[in-house]
Amino acid sequence: MPVSYILEQYVNDLRAITARETDPIKITDLVAPLAMKFAQSGEWFRPEYRDCDAEQGFSLHMLHEEPNHDLAVFLVSWLPNRGTTPHNHKTWAVVVGLEGEEQEVSFNRRDDGATPGFADLKRDGEQVITAGDITRCYPEHIHSVWNVGKTVSMSLHTYGRHINYTGRSEFDVEQMREKPYLLKIAVDE
Ligand SMILES: [Fe+2]
Repeated sequence: MPVSYILEQYVNDLRAITARETDPIKITDLVAPLAMKFAQSGEWFRPEYRDCDAEQGFSLHMLHEEPNHDLAVFLVSWLPNRGTTPHNHKTWAVVVGLEGEEQEVSFNRRDDGATPGFADLKRDGEQVITAGDITRCYPEHIHSVWNVGKTVSMSLHTYGRHINYTGRSEFDVEQMREKPYLLKIAVDE
């Protein structure tokens, strides 16, 4: 029997944590078990959350954001063999795997970020996230995510701030370029 932990409770807990903590490490330590509990409660799930944007390769289905765009919760669904470019977040993130296989590749940045549009990244390890796995990101962490399974994958993403409002970047590793990264958000009825 899944635990009952509705979105309103989860968001209230996120508000309480971020009201007393500012350190992304402490925040994600506290959010991680709650994100898992919320993911497992499943009461919030809607069939349309499986829908993926064919052009983008994945869809962000928004469950919550505060009026000022803080505390954004998304169900992200990914088409097979699609994913993101390497990117940062400029906010903390907690991701819980729900279904399928998502490969996360992490990168180290070797330049100091002082040259606009330039970035020197080196690949630095990878992991595959499946149902029940949990990962955290800190504001400057750079990674890419790719659905390496044969079916749609889904994961629950909780961010300190809606990722289209943090001023974050995507990266072209070969061309050594950095540019603003904005995503299409699904419009769910
Ligand atoms: Fe990410």
